[in-house]
Amino acid sequence: MSKQMSHLDNIPSTPGKFKMDKSPYIHNRLRWHSSLAKLTFWSFMFLGLILIFFFRSPSSNPLPQDPSRRSLRTYNWGGPAWEKRVRSSARIRSRNGISVLVTGAAGFVGTHVSAALKRRGDGVLGLDNFNDYYDPSLKRARQALLERSGIFIVEGDINDSALLRKLFEVVAFTHVMHLAAQAGVRYAMENPGSYVHSNIAGFVNLLEVCKSANPQPAIVWASSSSVYGLNTKVPFSERDRTDQPASLYAATKKAGEEIAHTYNHIYGLSLTGLRFFTVYGPWGRPDMAYFFFTRDILKGKSISIFEAANHGTVARDFTYIDDIVKGCLAALDTAEKSTGSGGKKKGPAQLRVFNLGNTSPVPVSDLVSILERLLKVNAKRNIMKLPRNGDVQFTHANISLAQRELGYKPSTDLQTGLKKFVRWYLSYYSGGKKAAG
Ligand SMILES: NC(=O)c1ccc[n+]([C@@H]2O[C@H](COP(=O)([O-])OP(=O)(O)OC[C@H]3O[C@@H](n4cnc5c(N)ncnc54)[C@H](O)[C@@H]3O)[C@@H](O)[C@H]2O)c1
Ligand SMILES: *[C@@H]1O[C@H](CO)[C@@H](O)[C@H](O)[C@H]1NC(C)=O
Ligand SMILES: *[C@@H]1O[C@H](CO)[C@@H](O)[C@H](O)[C@H]1NC(C)=O
Repeated sequence: MSKQMSHLDNIPSTPGKFKMDKSPYIHNRLRWHSSLAKLTFWSFMFLGLILIFFFRSPSSNPLPQDPSRRSLRTYNWGGPAWEKRVRSSARIRSRNGISVLVTGAAGFVGTHVSAALKRRGDGVLGLDNFNDYYDPSLKRARQALLERSGIFIVEGDINDSALLRKLFEVVAFTHVMHLAAQAGVRYAMENPGSYVHSNIAGFVNLLEVCKSANPQPAIVWASSSSVYGLNTKVPFSERDRTDQPASLYAATKKAGEEIAHTYNHIYGLSLTGLRFFTVYGPWGRPDMAYFFFTRDILKGKSISIFEAANHGTVARDFTYIDDIVKGCLAALDTAEKSTGSGGKKKGPAQLRVFNLGNTSPVPVSDLVSILERLLKVNAKRNIMKLPRNGDVQFTHANISLAQRELGYKPSTDLQTGLKKFVRWYLSYYSGGKKAAG
């Protein structure tokens, strides 16, 4: 609310500086029959100017993701043609198939999961707000890819309860794959509100609609390895403490896990949280190191490699997208039904959390060496101290729980996965397309 007020403050108190009376259009084409008409006309002009200024002023706002600006955006949804597309996209085409609402479907993981579900005959409907946290043209390209396999992505926000209720009215989704979120660790210092908007308010809104839906869907959603925060015990196991987040992003994911517990407890929603460990691959996210290292190495720009105190290694448990997709599908397939109905709990429901990692952390400097070999370009390395603003030194997943319960078994090593990423990168950004940012 206060953000909206600050937009109002941007309206100048001297609108007279917009002189329109020089316009030849107005003088030549309009005739005045009465002073009342004239007064009405200028009142509308004045109002129009204020409106134009109001909608233009956010473009000078330093926060591109300001959530109140986001909520000003209106999305076109509804109508018989739209409903027909929704229904057709969500239609199950195989025996024992499921119908899944995939939030964040134009995102990196969402695109791959949606395509995989569709391939095996499940009904898939996407939802995404196409925000500009990173180059939206990449999201549009993923959307075009999904469209070719018959997947419709509804354009809208997960915090829009009317839209979500409408979707559940049109389709009785058996499952929700919730991947929409404000991701990124360092961006939280620039725009904390966007994390609250998508990861807290949006998630609660989604759960509210799910708990009221008849039947209630089972929900699988993306938490993050970042919930382990300053935990130093490795490998990270699901039972380890997660009460020391090192970033607002991590704190909102941790909050999500607690909120999930509440909705499971009160309403009987079946909920599975997946703690992803640094996912990479084709169609990946431009804000992640492997992606912008590739871009900068190719451009001959120097890249910053973080090092912990006392030349400590910074390492990540990089997980290839195809392995993550298998984990997501296995989580959906093993999810039990929600038990509530009519917004009331009828019995205990399933509540799970799994690590989805690769179990082999790789130092970031090794990541760079692999990229150098694949790109056949030497990187200009700039070693820097790891800033204490959210990134942790080390991540390493214990995946024995997912192995046991989901049959999860990652099979792509970093070398193999990066080779596939680089092949995609070179083909996507050739032909005049430029890398984001
Ligand atoms: N990629 C990783 O390494 C990683 C690691 C841990 C957790 N995760 C989590 O996995 C999920 C998917 O991540 P990703 O890498 O595909 O990120 P992504 O940013 O590519 O995808 C998220 C998508 O959600 C959409 N979105 C964001 N807020 C929205 C809102 N309020 N309403 C509707 N749509 C919205 C975005 O436009 C985007 O397309 C996220 O929840 C993320 O936090 C990812
Ligand atoms: C989310 O939606 C609710 C209800 O429509 C609204 O009151 C709230 O301000 C929104 N929250 C955010 C953070 O955008
Ligand atoms: C991994 O997690 C399992 C529980 O899922 C636990 O029994 C095991 O001891 C953990 N292994 C290590 C090395 O921490």
